[in-house]
Amino acid sequence: MQKVIIDCDPGIDDVLALEYALRSPELEVVAITVVAGNVPVHLGVDNAFKVLERCNRLDVPVYVGASQPLKKPFVSAQDTHGEDGLGESGIARRSTVSPQSQTASEFLQEYFATAKDTGVIALGPLTNIALALTKDSRWGQNITRFVTMGGTYKSHGNCSPVAEFNYWCDPDAAALVYQTLPCQIEMVGLDVTRKIVFTPNILEYTKRMNPECFAYLQKITRFYFDFHWQYEHILGCVINDPLAVAYYIDPGLCQGFESYVAVETEGISIGQTLVDRYDFWQKKANAKILDTVDSRKFFELFLTVILNAPEATIASDLQNLRLG
Ligand code: BDR
Ligand code: CA
Repeated sequence: MQKVIIDCDPGIDDVLALEYALRSPELEVVAITVVAGNVPVHLGVDNAFKVLERCNRLDVPVYVGASQPLKKPFVSAQDTHGEDGLGESGIARRSTVSPQSQTASEFLQEYFATAKDTGVIALGPLTNIALALTKDSRWGQNITRFVTMGGTYKSHGNCSPVAEFNYWCDPDAAALVYQTLPCQIEMVGLDVTRKIVFTPNILEYTKRMNPECFAYLQKITRFYFDFHWQYEHILGCVINDPLAVAYYIDPGLCQGFESYVAVETEGISIGQTLVDRYDFWQKKANAKILDTVDSRKFFELFLTVILNAPEATIASDLQNLRLG
């Protein structure tokens, strides 16, 4: 089992990623840290607890993180994820468990001062990570792997022609993390996550395999389906964050290259990831950019865990099922 901390902004695809990680036999989720992103941070915390309740894992500590980006005013993605961040599904929190008293960045700082056996999967704006780094620039050298869902190389943006939401929401945090984190950044950006479309076909398939899970998935993805149809004429929805978890578990799922990456913090291309693949700037690579993915394999891994079904059955069914 690999130990991980999941930093997130739940969010529809974040809750899918959290459930996937919590139920994966390969991962031990040691903590969840929450940041303002898709929704204000207090709603993100509520949604994290809803997943823990659903998975019967209220033992996992939750830390409240930044409520604002480092410099830029906060803009949520409630147009995409609904006012509650869960597609206005009306799912209520049942437990009264409180988050930890330490802030997310304090926790991250203290934890990695000694732990050398834990990785980070960052699924939201990088504000909590940047705050931990601001307090100590050597922070992060003990992180075993740092996988972030964010940015984009060749694919267009989802917040502007060139910027992806997580880095657009807090570009200063993303820039700082890329400039100073003393371990390699594995960038799972829109180039690969756009290929992960949870289609009506797949949703229908989940009904055959696990009706309870289907009802939940249908409830939380309906709003997201409508949003994708309205803005991109896609039937279904792109589920970005679970891919970062799947790639963490199985690095063979995505392929890419190492490069220096900078994040734009001002102007019309604010939040853009500038990937210097051809080494114009002659700077040491600070990231691995993933740009190809085996989407069928992703769904095989993800559905096996989420639906609690045999991998061989899912794999063989997916051969016959049109994914798109
Ligand atoms: C990212 O932004 C959020 O809306 C999603 O949760 C994902 O982390 C995609 O751009
Ligand atoms: Ca997210």
